[in-house]
Amino acid sequence: MKFPAKGTERSMVMAELETARKNDVRWRDGRAFSLVFYPGHEIYEVVKEAYGLFFSENGLNPSAFPALRKFEQETVSMMADLMCDGSASGNLTSGGTESILLAVYSAREYALKHKPGLKEPEILVPTTVHPAFDKAAHYFGLKIKHIPVGPDFRADVAATAAAVTDQTILIVGSAPQYPHGVVDPIRELSSIALSHGILFHTDACVGGMILPFFRKLGRPVPEFSFELPGVTSISIDLHKYGYAAKGASVVLYRNSSQRRSQFFVQTTWPGGIYGSPGILGTRPGGSIAAAWAVLKHLGEAGYMGLAKSVLESTDYIRNEIQAIPGLRIPGQPHASVLAIVSDEMDIYQIGDELAVRGWHLDKQQDPPSLHLTISYAHEASREQFIRDLRECTEKVRGSIGSRWADLQTAAARALSKILPVSAIRFLSRFTSTEGKRQAAMYGMIGSLPVKGEVDELILDFLDRLYSLDK
Ligand SMILES: Cc1ncc(COP(=O)(O)O)c(C=O)c1O
Repeated sequence: MKFPAKGTERSMVMAELETARKNDVRWRDGRAFSLVFYPGHEIYEVVKEAYGLFFSENGLNPSAFPALRKFEQETVSMMADLMCDGSASGNLTSGGTESILLAVYSAREYALKHKPGLKEPEILVPTTVHPAFDKAAHYFGLKIKHIPVGPDFRADVAATAAAVTDQTILIVGSAPQYPHGVVDPIRELSSIALSHGILFHTDACVGGMILPFFRKLGRPVPEFSFELPGVTSISIDLHKYGYAAKGASVVLYRNSSQRRSQFFVQTTWPGGIYGSPGILGTRPGGSIAAAWAVLKHLGEAGYMGLAKSVLESTDYIRNEIQAIPGLRIPGQPHASVLAIVSDEMDIYQIGDELAVRGWHLDKQQDPPSLHLTISYAHEASREQFIRDLRECTEKVRGSIGSRWADLQTAAARALSKILPVSAIRFLSRFTSTEGKRQAAMYGMIGSLPVKGEVDELILDFLDRLYSLDK
């Protein structure tokens, strides 16, 4: 595409924006089971208005914008209170990944300062932990050990204890983890860390803004926050169950010297003395203001109301799935995140059928499953979802369409065994990036024997995804 020589009239730009989104998932109608958290029109408008008021302001320099400083300080303080330690310190970040990158980076800096003789710092994570931890280890040159989880998909405490060495700087658990929605045994894991004098991070990116309210509603929720003495840092996303605008999460530390290890300064730059708390330089004022505004607007009572709806939708969806022959839910999810597996059918084909009907559910592996993060928007869509899931399951169980998809998957699997990876990469170009039917592609990826080959395939895919369609 050439750089436009002339501008385009506002109304036409707006019309093009609207046209471009016509194939996007209809999240307002509760069609997305991840990615978007819609709290309904009234709250959405409050968030949008707050964002709009501060959308040009820059959180990079709080002395120019004391308002943003106040919003950040107060947001962090409210979250510290919710996480059971009002004196914890922290920062607002652009999302779960930035909070996690910072927690891992500060753990490295903190350990390097306090642990002489550290040569190859490593972090211990369950295999189900979010890939942001792998990204952090990759970016910051740390070793990462993935500890297999137990049959209930929760972190294995004994295996974690056995994996600790004198190079371990951080242990991680999730509340809950993304793939199956179970909360790791944070009490036991964090006490291993405490007994070795190392740091422990709870990834509550998903659960931090829903589990405390589920507990208040009477659900048994395992401890995961600063109520446990071994927990030294926590990540909580406000742009998930906080229903804030995208670009808002909080990273909290038990003590301020941990947070200090997260900061970056450059004092000899001709442009002045530069200090920044996180990974970003310029920080969008809109998402900072909107995060503060939604916490203030809803308060505990408002979040309890939203959580009650999420709890009812989760119970309804879970019970209905369990009543559909051939489907089941792995593990015992503690929150409002769950997976669907099938021991009889190709669950990816069921996912494809649902996608054709406008539902967005991520495909997962080990075991093959579909992902559901249930939020407020599903109050309106849950019954239709179950009707469609039932019909799609029946279709895949018996139809010719399913046998054709089976054949495609089998052919792709067979091809992947005999063709060199370069040929598979070539073939994968014919799988539309926006296509609703991906079961065959997933089946093929599942049969590639060497991890490096899968990595190459996905790198090709990303290359193509972020290039202009030809
Ligand atoms: C458990 C968990 N941690 C961290 C993240 C990363 O959050 P973000 O996508 O905001 O970077 C996610 C995202 O889904 C998650 O589920």
